[in-house]
Amino acid sequence: MVLSPCAETLPPIIMFPKHEEIIKVQFAGSNILSVHQFERADVERIFSVADNMLPYAQRRRMTKVLDGAILGSMFFEPSTRTRVSFGSAFNLLGGEVRETTGFENSSIAKGESLYDTARVLSGYSDAIVMRHPAPGSVSEFSAASRVPVINGGDGSNEHPSQALLDLYTIKSELAERGRGIDKLRIAMVGDLRHGRTVHSLCKLLCLFKDIQVVLVSPKELTMPAEIVEEIRSSGHQVLESEALEESIAHVDIVYSTRIQEERFASQTEADLYRGRFRLNQSVYTSHCEPNTIIMHPLPRDSRDNARELDDDLNDNPNLAIFRQTDNGVLVRMALFVLVLDVVDQVDSHARDVNWYIERRF
Ligand code: CP
Repeated sequence: MVLSPCAETLPPIIMFPKHEEIIKVQFAGSNILSVHQFERADVERIFSVADNMLPYAQRRRMTKVLDGAILGSMFFEPSTRTRVSFGSAFNLLGGEVRETTGFENSSIAKGESLYDTARVLSGYSDAIVMRHPAPGSVSEFSAASRVPVINGGDGSNEHPSQALLDLYTIKSELAERGRGIDKLRIAMVGDLRHGRTVHSLCKLLCLFKDIQVVLVSPKELTMPAEIVEEIRSSGHQVLESEALEESIAHVDIVYSTRIQEERFASQTEADLYRGRFRLNQSVYTSHCEPNTIIMHPLPRDSRDNARELDDDLNDNPNLAIFRQTDNGVLVRMALFVLVLDVVDQVDSHARDVNWYIERRF
């Protein structure tokens, strides 16, 4: 018998922060906890600063604008991109990084509270980036921190820097096609219930005009209702579907996501959904419009029984996944120089590098 999980087996998705708790970003000295903190002008400001980070991210120039500054990097869940690109971004600005990874290497494993941890570590750092499995935990930590805190992902809630780099990538890819973000048609596919990247991206897209969002997921893993309502009440169109092929036929972007197996009560339950939606070159050729952009926050699950975004798309020029990861450094550098209030000093602390080697591709 195939188990069919019902809503009772999945805990409710609770979104943070509540509207009354949102503190709009001022940049200098601000925490970055949720995309709800941003207005459209803030996002455009971040993107403009990110553009200026390109020579540094490409290692053509180096800057020491954050010479002497320390980033506390605290990742209590696995991470490759977010942890390393935040660290690289801080290093590229001349700062140093101190890392804690995993509860087992932290005194939280001995019962220390988030409050005490924040009070202690904010004495050692000028900024902190944190990932934690509990929704709202990074916000709770930031309330006790004496320095700005950036949310590197809090459970299934939010991943604001990922949404910013995704939107920066969308802007860049559309600009090459002579378009802006307004009037975007995007299909989001996979585990939309637990995927914090799509939660944050949907909220950020609400700042733009005439967006059409097609949400493709198993019925048990649909986008939380309050996010769907937020998109609709912002004046955008939302379609929900369980059929991949017809849903990706008339969109500018297919944004694929992994089944977030770490959020399920058991591996058996997660396995019910693995491999449900598979985008490969054959599906793409048969169903997508030419030049449809393919995105994924990564990691993609390349195991045989998953493959939501197949490796056979790797040579497809519309596959933007590694442009997304490169853009992550630009956007995270931009956040640091804005939050630490050195945006106007980056170039005056810079010089050309003497080891520059052209990237192969
Ligand atoms: N996209 C993302 O958050 O990747 P990591 O889990 O590797 O940081």
